Order: sequence, then structure tokens, then C-alpha cells
Amino acid sequence: MGRMNFQSLVEPDRVHKSVYTDQKIFDAEMENIFEKVWVYCGHESQIPNTGDYYAVTIGRQPMMMVRAADGSINVLHNRCPHRGVQLVGNLKGNTGGAFVCSYHAWSFHLDGKVRAIPLARGYEGTAMNKSNPDCNVKRAARVDSYRGFVFASLAAEGPTLPEFLGDARIAFDDMCDRSPLGEVEVVPHCHRMIQQSNWKFFMENQLDALHPSVTHQSTGISAGRVEKRIKEQNGSAPLHYHYLSTFASSFEQWDSVQTINFPRGHGILKAYMGLRPKDPDTLEYEALLQKAYGEAKTEEYLSRSIHHVLVYPYLSVQSPLQQLRCLRPISPDKTLSEIWHFRLKGAPEAIYRRSLWYYNLVNSPATMINADDLENWTKAQWGLTSNGGDWVSFHRNYGDDRVENGVSYSNHGTSEVVMRSQFQAWTKYMHGDAA
Ligand code: FES
Ligand SMILES: [Fe+2]
Repeated sequence: MGRMNFQSLVEPDRVHKSVYTDQKIFDAEMENIFEKVWVYCGHESQIPNTGDYYAVTIGRQPMMMVRAADGSINVLHNRCPHRGVQLVGNLKGNTGGAFVCSYHAWSFHLDGKVRAIPLARGYEGTAMNKSNPDCNVKRAARVDSYRGFVFASLAAEGPTLPEFLGDARIAFDDMCDRSPLGEVEVVPHCHRMIQQSNWKFFMENQLDALHPSVTHQSTGISAGRVEKRIKEQNGSAPLHYHYLSTFASSFEQWDSVQTINFPRGHGILKAYMGLRPKDPDTLEYEALLQKAYGEAKTEEYLSRSIHHVLVYPYLSVQSPLQQLRCLRPISPDKTLSEIWHFRLKGAPEAIYRRSLWYYNLVNSPATMINADDLENWTKAQWGLTSNGGDWVSFHRNYGDDRVENGVSYSNHGTSEVVMRSQFQAWTKYMHGDAA
């Protein structure tokens, strides 16, 4: 593909609709962004034993993360070096001590090195022998992990994982620090769903504080009515009613929640939900944290102002409730999303149940929250495919945000600085100068 001029599609306060609909632009995104940046593969607790593997898509590449005998984690292309057959056909499993190709039984160690080529005499005198690296399964250029979260990059050059994550590292620190043992463990099943819309809608929507009081109003108001009735009857209502009723907060409340927007497109939506009730479960949990970390650290950990953290271009981590949503784009108008949640190691079961309630009530595709968002994004995709207009507006509060050291802080929670900032990062990536 010839070099496209992405600059003409992205203005400081609006973008051309084609960035959401055009196949060539999508392909360029895969090449310049997803197949270069550090992409989240999964949590190390998804593959606890030697030979455990989990298939994962990085950009357009079918890959797999696998646990080796020495405990290290490898990320390999899911492709046999002989004639190209995929080595694993399942999403996850255990391959034992080696991968054995189902076509001609070439086998490979868990780090991708060829182990055996059956009937080797047929290769005598050819280039294909065990010492030729072309006989090994190709590995991701780089693999690293942060607090148990495993990432891979298909580019040999570029920022390190800590550099790439930058201030968004707080997502993983905040999640793990909430465990008395400083670690989380994946709940081994996720919701896996295809959004009928471009991946960027999801990323924009995560920090769009203007839409909840509109899109989620009916759910918020209904939940609020039930919550009030239960409170009147029992003195208090379970926390999960609050998860839903806060969506009906007033515009002024939403506008007072700040967004922080980092140069690589990462971002933070500050907290707006009260998550520290004074019930016995919470008090027991907080006592465990105090025992582990002391009072000051516990206070620091529990009072961070985070609703969720974005790792651009594909991750939304809701650390206070141990949720993680990861995007795997498929085409301009199709995006696979994985919705995971985690257990805080060493925390009481009730704290896990709380996270599960959130997972099922808000983040599951079957809820009235996520489903209403999905409908908006699908309709956005349809709208932008039409001839009804060429531009998408991000003018809200333009020029009214505070910028310090390349970080934009919104003065209004509902400012469209989120989208403006994400597209600045997007343009840099697309021109190959985001290092
Ligand atoms: S394609 Fe894998 S062994 Fe032949
Ligand atoms: Fe929403």
C-alpha cells in the first residue's frame, strides 16, 4: 500500500469518517499500530502448568502463549514451519512436552525450537534440517510481563513494556495492590463477543462521560428506584444496585469527573462510584490490607481516584473492580472483545462476589449497560457508512483543557479531549513516529 496521508483525515477537532470504515486504513492500523505495540496476551495464571497454552490474536496474527518447563512464558506464531498448518486448533489446552503438528508430525519444544523431523532422511542434502532456524516456530519479537500480565510485541525495536505502558502502569498496580498478597488470579472464563463496530468507538466511549446519563438513563433510574425501596425497607441495599444507579447521575456530576489523557493515547477516567461501604465484608477486607501493608499504604491504595484506565489502543482496565476488557480488531466494522475479571489473592470471597456482580451486571454483553453501548456503536458504524456527512465532531470543550508535559487534563469531564488526544496518538502511530 502506498503511503497514505493520514494527516488530512485527522484535524485537531474532527476526523474523517473513513478512519472508521475504510479497509485500507484498517490494514494500515494493523501494520502500524497493533503489530508493533505491546499487545496484551493474557494473565500468567491462565497457563499455570508446563505445556499449557492459550491462543491469542495479535493484530492479524494467530499466536499462542505457552508455559515452558522452566516456568517462562513464550509467545509463538501458531504456524508450523513445514507447510504452514496451525499447530493448535483450540483456544486453550495443554500440549504436553511439545507441539506435534497434525499434518506430518514435525514436533517442537515449548520455546518453538524444532524437536524432531520424522523420516529425516528425506531431507538429506536439503536446507531443511534441525540446525536451520527456519525449522523453528517463529516467536514474537519481544515478550515481557508486568505484575503477572503478559504482553508481546511483534516489533524487535521500540519502547520497552514499562516505557510503552508509562503512567498506565497504574492499572496493574492498582489492581494488584488491592490484594493482601499483591497478586491477582484470572477467573478462567471470559465473555467473548464480536462488536459490530470499529474498535475506536469502544476506546472513545470508555472515557466518554457525556453518554452515561443519556444512554444508560433508563437502567440507572430503574435500578435507583429499586435501591431506594430496599433501603427504606432494610436500611441498606446491596452495593450492586449502586453500580447501576450511578449511571443516572446528573450531567453536572459527570462533568465534574476528570479525564487524564496521555501522549500514547492511554487515559484515566477518575473515580465516580463509591466502593467503600462500611459493611462487615469490607471492614474485614480492609483489615487484611492493613495487616499486609500498614494503615498509610492501605489508605493510599484504596483511595486512588480511578474508574478505569485505558491502554491504547485495545485495553480498558477497571482496577477497583478487577475487570479487564481487551479488543482484538477483525475488520473495520468488527471487533472481538474479551471481557475478563480477576480474584484478589488473599481477599475474602465476598470481595470476589462483588467483582462478579459488576462483571455480570455492567460488563457482560447480556446486561442493559453494555448492550446499550453496543447498540450505539453499531448505529455509529451504520451512520458513518452512509453519505449523510463526512466528518465526526470532537469539538466539545476544545481549547479548554489543561496540558502539562504532553498530558491533557480535562477541565470538564465531558470534554471530547479524550478523542482528540487518542487521535493525536493514532496519527503518530500511523506515520511511524510514535516511539
Ligand atoms: S505442515 Fe506441519 S508437519 Fe507438515
Ligand atoms: Fe456506556
